Amino acid sequence: MSRPTSLSAGPSAEDPSTAFRLDSESASLVFDAASPVPKLLYWGERLEGDAAGLGAVLERPVLHGLLDDPEPLTCFPETGQGFQGSPGLEAHRDGESFFTQLERIGIQQDEDRLSVELEDRATKIQVRIDIESLGDLFRWRTSVHSTAAQRVPLTVDWLAAAAIALPSGLQEVQLFEGQWCRELHSDRLRLDSGSLLRENRTGRTSHQSFPAMVFGEAGFSAERGAVYALHLAWSGNHRLIAERTRTGQLQAQLGELLLPGEVQLAGGEQLESPWVYLGLSQGGTNGLAEHFHAFVRGHLVPKTRRPVHFNTWEALYFDHSEEKTLELVAEARRRGAERFVLDDGWFRGREHDRAGLGDWEVCETKYPRGLEPIVEAVEAAGLEMGLWVEPEMVNADSDLCRRHPDWLLQSPGRQQPLGRHQHALDLTRDDVRHHLLETLVGLVDRYRLRYLKWDMNRDLCHVEAQGRPAQRAMTLAYYRLLDAFRTARPDVEVEACSSGGARVDYEVLRRVTRLWPSDSHDPKERQMIHRGYNLFFPPEVLGMHVGSERSETSGRTHAMAFRAHTALFGHLGIEPTRRPLSSEDAALLERTVAFYKEHRSWLHEATTLYLEHAETELVSRLALAADGSRALLAAALLDTPRQILLAPLRLRGLPEGQRWRVTLLEADQHSFAKSRSAMHRGEPVAATSEALHYGLQLPPLRPESLALFELVALAPEDS
Ligand code: GLA
Repeated sequence: MSRPTSLSAGPSAEDPSTAFRLDSESASLVFDAASPVPKLLYWGERLEGDAAGLGAVLERPVLHGLLDDPEPLTCFPETGQGFQGSPGLEAHRDGESFFTQLERIGIQQDEDRLSVELEDRATKIQVRIDIESLGDLFRWRTSVHSTAAQRVPLTVDWLAAAAIALPSGLQEVQLFEGQWCRELHSDRLRLDSGSLLRENRTGRTSHQSFPAMVFGEAGFSAERGAVYALHLAWSGNHRLIAERTRTGQLQAQLGELLLPGEVQLAGGEQLESPWVYLGLSQGGTNGLAEHFHAFVRGHLVPKTRRPVHFNTWEALYFDHSEEKTLELVAEARRRGAERFVLDDGWFRGREHDRAGLGDWEVCETKYPRGLEPIVEAVEAAGLEMGLWVEPEMVNADSDLCRRHPDWLLQSPGRQQPLGRHQHALDLTRDDVRHHLLETLVGLVDRYRLRYLKWDMNRDLCHVEAQGRPAQRAMTLAYYRLLDAFRTARPDVEVEACSSGGARVDYEVLRRVTRLWPSDSHDPKERQMIHRGYNLFFPPEVLGMHVGSERSETSGRTHAMAFRAHTALFGHLGIEPTRRPLSSEDAALLERTVAFYKEHRSWLHEATTLYLEHAETELVSRLALAADGSRALLAAALLDTPRQILLAPLRLRGLPEGQRWRVTLLEADQHSFAKSRSAMHRGEPVAATSEALHYGLQLPPLRPESLALFELVALAPEDS
């Protein structure tokens, strides 16, 4: 555990009854400082005036059957203050000191930052809540500090990184569920009473529980309703709680899920939680996404050109040879790719997934002349070289494991359940991290790598290091290793991958430029998966590859147009298989690559709007350029619609008073249509935003296909 910086009463800790506030660009937080621990009175649109009187008009009556200060839902809800819902801290000293009664000892504030410092003298615990405003978002974290040497350390079982009182009128909660090849789907529930609990114990961010919650008014949608989103930026275990108290208050808690006895604070030590990112919109989840995307673009990920990838996994699996890989390099060049990524299977012993992890040297049987000829061919073709690695893992059948059996993360004397036949290395060991850093830097230098696909393909269990639970330490050690690599080779871009999208969150994204959202290239799956991701991640940080005609994961077959035009909206890549493409498909793919290159500069800064429609099988997304000069619309029909001629799609969100040239670029239309409008024949038509807000008639689409429209703003004099 770390040592805290000193806590002192800040200069602005004057009148304790004054409300204090923090503003983001579009939202305000107002706290009531009259109670010993501040209460969040207001989280809403940015207040232009002051919020005097908020405490008075919101004061709740005392009801029979409750404590006299009923349910004090503060920024750090405490059993000791009489809060009987989920407390923000569960800790004890060997069964003693099991609750706190904190007093405010300081507030420090500047324009973008607020720290509240609290203390409970009896238990010798201090708490600090840090809140920062970043663009349209806030971020919030909590630290607990065991202040003095005690007979026994403070065991922390739960610390909410943020305990947030939400407007109690919000009725619905959206959580995120998923699995391999089906990431970021939603569970939408109404919360009238009790608690919803979602936990992740997989040792990575997980497929099945993206660490976020969205609270909204009943019936909130992409375009409508007040919505509040919270994302815990943490790549290990987590716990999410949504709670309706018995008097109807609503609170959200997000934090690390700690293993039994994992955190024990000696005197002077502190536990600092991960950050929780908070965003809100009065205009549905599109508004939320706009705020989160702006934050990622402005604060988390540097702007890069995002070259077209060509990734070898599904073309080769473990069956590599110099000849086959050189053929793929030639194909990558023909297709217009800009980065060649040699995926799993290139290193010693990797004939299958039961061997080889840990031995990061080229397989001399598959590549007798080493990887150099591949790298030279890639560079000669004008592409960047990228390589797949899974540094944190090891197969028992590897020289590394035979040499260093003590490097495994395991509980001595226990049979560890394996995942994909592999063990995790104990990253908390300095020698392990040192070895991995040297190995990665060695690969980068030797093969002039510009990019690493950094994978992590198993859930963790028996997470024990030096006889102690170590999940938290493992997560931090992963960050340390990645940070050390980035410091050592800052020009190398890293993609975070974990059996698809099992390690996707803002703490990872802070360190990488690309996320691998899913192993599914099935465009129908991807349409659904990306609707979930879009809430928090702008499309350009999400790798999207044009896969084979018959999806390797779902077995479904899709036309090239649906595959290519789905992938066009992310960071585009190609995932070839060994079956040759027809000349029409090859031409369409190459056109899509060229279109991506021509348009990526504005697409990667665009606002993404999901458009509502009564037909639930229709997923429509509009990318609107930041300067309002153009837009790209994909209306994807995932299954047979109830009405073969869909009601016109309303293009809300286009800037008012604008005229557009609208062109249908591509659509897989039913052949039965006896006549088609000029627009559906591909002729450009002119229309105002107002007309398009009212509706755009889609062509009669075949199920599992999409219509792609281009909108270009017309100058007033153009017709
Ligand atoms: C994981 C990744 C895939 C691929 C394989 C290689 O499953 O998600 O994209 O790299 O590993 O083993």
